[in-house]
Amino acid sequence: RILILDFGAQYTQLIARRIREIGVYCEIWAWDHDPAEIARFAPRGIILSGGPESTTLPGAPAAPQEVFDSGVPLLGICYGMQTMAAQLGGATEAADQREFGHAEVQVVAADALLQGLSDHEGDARLDVWMSHGDHVARVPTGFRVSAVTDRIPVAAMADDQRRWYGVQFHPEVTHTKQGLALLRRFVTGICGCRTLWTAANIIDDQIARVRDQVGSDEVILGLSGGVDSSVVAALLHRAIGEQLTCVFVDTGLLRWQEGDQVMAMFAEHMGVKVIRVNAADRYFKALEGVTDPEAKRKIIGGLFVEIFEEESNRLKNAKWLAQGTIYPDVIESAGSKTGKAHVIKSHHNVGGLPEHMKLGLVEPLRELFKDEVRRLGVELGLPREMVYRHPFPGPGLGVRILAEVKREYAELLARADAIFIEELRKSGWYDRTSQAFAVFLPVKSVGVVGDARAYEWVIALRAVETIDFMTAHWAHLPYELLGTVSNRIINELRGVSRVVYDISGKPPATIEWE
Ligand code: XMP
Repeated sequence: RILILDFGAQYTQLIARRIREIGVYCEIWAWDHDPAEIARFAPRGIILSGGPESTTLPGAPAAPQEVFDSGVPLLGICYGMQTMAAQLGGATEAADQREFGHAEVQVVAADALLQGLSDHEGDARLDVWMSHGDHVARVPTGFRVSAVTDRIPVAAMADDQRRWYGVQFHPEVTHTKQGLALLRRFVTGICGCRTLWTAANIIDDQIARVRDQVGSDEVILGLSGGVDSSVVAALLHRAIGEQLTCVFVDTGLLRWQEGDQVMAMFAEHMGVKVIRVNAADRYFKALEGVTDPEAKRKIIGGLFVEIFEEESNRLKNAKWLAQGTIYPDVIESAGSKTGKAHVIKSHHNVGGLPEHMKLGLVEPLRELFKDEVRRLGVELGLPREMVYRHPFPGPGLGVRILAEVKREYAELLARADAIFIEELRKSGWYDRTSQAFAVFLPVKSVGVVGDARAYEWVIALRAVETIDFMTAHWAHLPYELLGTVSNRIINELRGVSRVVYDISGKPPATIEWE
């Protein structure tokens, strides 16, 4: 396995995902993680990530001495290379201008890392992605310059003897064409890691671990219909069968017919024990008269905990609570003070279940990125369509009804949403958008029904493209598609006479309307 020390770059998780993709397990630790643990972790190689700081300033983050004493191969990327240079006796220089974007790197003395990699036939030149201010001006003793660009004197440096390497560019982004090949060469060639990190192996390993952890005890799981809890359900069912009981709370605020679909798939098709709680009445009652979005979120989340607790109290023998926590929820990233806090994930963002439930935690996805969770889901036999579904917020339709949440509105909205999604799938646009949904607007606009004027509701459609959900573009859906969706919603749903399309980007508009 590989250890990645994080110096706070936005790309650090991408490095980890690429290495996992290659088939090698890796973990991300903050650069100031207790260095005594490095030996215990026993990595076969260490990668120092990029970061926003400057080694030319006092107090800049540095790699712990243990990294250099460990004797394993090292790869410094961007800031990671700069700190290697600064710490090992070379020199770095601050530039007055940042270099960001495509660059061409000339290999001048091929090392074990760059040997034979090229994007230009007959010439050792690489097309790479740069994002840096500082650069290495002089390499430390033992190193040589292995690549340059016309802007910087050291684009890569190497010490083949000690197997220490540095690159100024970012091999983890796809714009660096040979990036994956370079990382593969480092982890499998130079570090000698075997590529055992595959969906099938992860499943076998987790099954063994879960069995070992829970023995013959019973386990409960809150199944939400989302990807993470569904994959946990499928995995635990395979690991411990009848010892698993899922509690599925149907809030009345889910996607159209989602409750029935969850039951059909898990209970009927796979034979998982699922307790379905039809709680729609309770939710609508609790939400009566509430219009403030944050108040709605609190009520929906709080009620979930209450119901889940009631149900699990009935399962007297349950000793464990399974959760779909995934790796991005637990990564201790440099610059964040949340550190190693044990994150309790609740799909309603209420900060988890009450302490007094006294259940041990089973979190089989704790080490996995979302793309790995999806691959696991497919391997476990869950339908691809479900595993690659757009995200759905915990409070569900509750925050897509811009008014008091009433059953009548929720039903109209769920059906409008289903029409939209069906047409997106049919036209091939579903997979080209990251999230798409309908929103219920509590305004009555005028329409003509027959010969009379009628004042009816408005439905807004939203579809966005995004990588990380922090920023997003509205999707340029074809007019014909929007026309079909609009016609269908207006014709098939009583009470809606107008459909609009949201063309706002994030920022400033958020993806959800509340
Ligand atoms: P915004 O609206 O903040 O949404 O641009 C970003 C992503 O977060 C989802 N979202 C939520 N998810 N509980 C959730 O579990 C919430 O209260 C919530 N609010 C927004 C949203 O669907 C989008 O994917």
